[in-house]
Amino acid sequence: MKKEIVLTGITTTGTPHLGNYVGAIRPAIEASRNEHVTSFYFLADYHALIKCHDPETVRRSSLEIAATWLALGLDTSNAVFYRQSDVPEIMELTWILNCVTAKGLMNRAHAYKAAVAENEEGGEKDPDKGIMMGLFSYPVLMAADILMFNADKVPVGKDQIQHIEMARDIAGRFNHLFGEHFILPKAVIDDNTATLLGLDGRKMSKSYNNTIPLFAPEKKLKKLINKIKTNSLEPGEPKDPDGCTLFSTFQAFAAASEVSEMRQRYADGIAWGEMKKHLFEYINDHITPARERYEALLESPEHIEQELLDGAEKARAISRPFLKEIRKATGIQPIGS
Ligand code: TRP
Repeated sequence: MKKEIVLTGITTTGTPHLGNYVGAIRPAIEASRNEHVTSFYFLADYHALIKCHDPETVRRSSLEIAATWLALGLDTSNAVFYRQSDVPEIMELTWILNCVTAKGLMNRAHAYKAAVAENEEGGEKDPDKGIMMGLFSYPVLMAADILMFNADKVPVGKDQIQHIEMARDIAGRFNHLFGEHFILPKAVIDDNTATLLGLDGRKMSKSYNNTIPLFAPEKKLKKLINKIKTNSLEPGEPKDPDGCTLFSTFQAFAAASEVSEMRQRYADGIAWGEMKKHLFEYINDHITPARERYEALLESPEHIEQELLDGAEKARAISRPFLKEIRKATGIQPIGS
């Protein structure tokens, strides 16, 4: 039986934070150990150029993301772990898909619409001011990422569901015109994975500038946890764990029995200072072994590079023949064959 294919990409514009870990990296690494599934995980570095024109950020982020996934124990013998830019067939497929994608479909993409809305609200005469083609056609690149490997399932955040729907539309259009070549992918949203809150109590997100880097050095981690916002209840006063950032963060790491114990300590009026200390120690213990591997990996980038090149080789063993098939379906093929 054909193994199910699960694929997801990580845009290389930032440093992995605790929210990324709990919401995406941890479940993906667990899934990579499932032998009934083939997982494709890749550094979406061409996606990075859509929103970031600082080469140093893109370079550093690629290094940190790759080191993070490897340090956390991604099983690269079972999963295919590669850098998008090492698989040029994806770019070729992007063009082919561009030629069967309705512009009207892209007009409805929410990232593009949000950029237009911002211009309109700012009183701009030209609603497209400052909007690049990369942003506009980004769902086509994403469709190529997914369709290149005929992924069945694509685990993503809610903000990405629309893009998976578009990939399905584009695949359907291609199949209609040129024959059944692509599998229509499905988005998978795991409601059980935790969404971490940031320092200010809003969702932890790079765009809110409220993140805790996953592998922040111990001292920094402590400092940041101490900065997490709480209310002003005094030690001894009963506290409500629900809606408390410290508690929900603890919950994302601790076992169920420890969580219910902590609930009791809230009712008993645990002091915020004590809770912060406990949370720091808990997370730090959890993360220290991986942080050590991470730091060692950053010292030997050639090892990371080799992993990525090996991954790209595995990916291209699929993408090369498949792209040939796709090209042929459209009439792009050697003369006389
Ligand atoms: N656009 C996705 C994000 O911002 C990242 C991504 C790029 C991706 N290509 C993909 C996710 C393909 C899933 C499948 O989160």
